[in-house]
Amino acid sequence: MKHILVINGPNLNLLGTREVDIYGKITLAKINEMVKEKARELNCQVRIKQSNSEGEIVSFISEARNWADALIINPAAYTHTSIAIRDAILAVGIPVIEVHLSNIYKRESFRQKSLIVGVCLGQITGFGPEGYILALEAVVNVLEER
Ligand code: DQA
Repeated sequence: MKHILVINGPNLNLLGTREVDIYGKITLAKINEMVKEKARELNCQVRIKQSNSEGEIVSFISEARNWADALIINPAAYTHTSIAIRDAILAVGIPVIEVHLSNIYKRESFRQKSLIVGVCLGQITGFGPEGYILALEAVVNVLEER
């Protein structure tokens, strides 16, 4: 059975109340339930983590090598700033999909650049919570083809 780690970055713990016009009313707990349900359907195991701290996210990624076959990450604001998260992804060497709820290319210019996507298989941006489900389907397909 394939193991997928899902990491959510800063302020995503506030989903449901945070900038609802952009991110919607759905909570992270609800998104996590959807992801777990999809994982059962796809017969894979997921672990889901959230942190507001860059260093902790780096540690989650490096610890992933002990368990995960692939990683799905919404690095939130660190997408646009974190060389440390980029380097951690390169070091761990497993397939990674970057997810964003909003379409970062339709937003402020500082959000239109991801330091992370260049070390990922790809990016899913703008589909709301559905993006996590699409990422899970995609990554499971990729792992099956390997
Ligand atoms: C986000 C987009 C980021 O620019 C922002 O800082 C977030 C959420 C998204 O999911 O749309 O916190 O990653």
